[in-house]
Amino acid sequence: MAQKVVLAYSGGLDTSVAIRWIKEKYNMDVIAVTADVGGDRDLEAVREKALRVGAVQAIVVDARADFVKHFAFPTLRADAIYQGVYPLATALSRPLIARLLVDVAEKEGASAVAHGCTGKGNDQVRMDVGVAALAPHLRIIAPAREWGMTREQTIAYAQRHAIPIPVTSASPYSIDQNLWGRSIECGVLEDPWVEPPEDVFAWTASPQNAPDQPAYVEISFEKGLPTALDGREMDGIALIQELNALAGRHGVGRIDHIEDRLVGIKSREIYEAPAAIVLFTAHQALEAMTLSREQLKFKQKVAGEYADLIYNGLWFSSFHQDLAAYVQSTQRCVTGTVRLKLHKGACKVVGRRSPCSLYRHSLATYDKGDEFDQDASVGFIHIWGLPVRVQAQAQPESKWTL
Ligand code: ARG
Repeated sequence: MAQKVVLAYSGGLDTSVAIRWIKEKYNMDVIAVTADVGGDRDLEAVREKALRVGAVQAIVVDARADFVKHFAFPTLRADAIYQGVYPLATALSRPLIARLLVDVAEKEGASAVAHGCTGKGNDQVRMDVGVAALAPHLRIIAPAREWGMTREQTIAYAQRHAIPIPVTSASPYSIDQNLWGRSIECGVLEDPWVEPPEDVFAWTASPQNAPDQPAYVEISFEKGLPTALDGREMDGIALIQELNALAGRHGVGRIDHIEDRLVGIKSREIYEAPAAIVLFTAHQALEAMTLSREQLKFKQKVAGEYADLIYNGLWFSSFHQDLAAYVQSTQRCVTGTVRLKLHKGACKVVGRRSPCSLYRHSLATYDKGDEFDQDASVGFIHIWGLPVRVQAQAQPESKWTL
């Protein structure tokens, strides 16, 4: 009996060719698995295509709730944004897909898993390391990394074997999308001097064509998790979908990034992430009200580490567990509501309130009701400046001269 391999199947050209190629090269039975992470595709058609192309079994899993709860929202609480701009949509879906492959492989008694990643990107690392962390005994097959075919040769292979070529492969761009964002690369975008043409974007209006009237939205959080829009409680999927539509309409969420891949290549990537950008902005504004100066400063360092480990494929690592425990602890009081203004591509915080706010009007005010003891500042400054005074006296040669 042929051995079984579980393939992460997108329905695109590479993974369709992979089904046939694995049969030919390894003589294995291919089980195709497709995760629905909110990429807005006709997944029944994808499933049928897998079978038509030669998979012995094709499974579609609705992983949207799992994706939001265990991947997107924990990342939001961590404020994890790679290199300060990329909300990590693609990077977050890979460990979920790796886990799904391992689950199905165990259930079906497969000896291998497979994916369609090339040998130049981050995704191969995320998939391979993810699978290795969960099931180190499984063999990993990566056809697109092994076969050495150019795009033209892959198309020719598909034609030879009557594999339908999706219309999307006529597009000059390589696109990956889920609820947390849309990643676009290739084609004219590979010239970093060229402004992204409008046809790159699908979720966001061009800011210049966005409505002249701004939109306001209020986002409520409980312990760092978004729970309501404009006072309407809703689940994470609906909340993200609604924000993607609203902020996208106002041109919010376009990102143009020269990014550093783990494998050492600089690449140019365009992202659309309207909901993620609005949620990160709101979450950080609420943290500014509810966390102390020291918490904010240290958490920012953790956020950088957190983003790097996700980007670099270390989701299933002990390091991640440790950072996640810290982040969880920081969110105890991140509860409240943030009001944002969306206008012609800009997303600005215009209001915030929290039952556990550390902002005290009576301390901050310059009007009547001031409770801050200004006389006490004199003693405070005397002690604070003490070492500076001592040094200025003891080491006059190191005194500042400008
Ligand atoms: N550069 C992004 C990352 O490494 C996205 C990769 C997938 N992009 C794509 N257009 N297929 O996470």
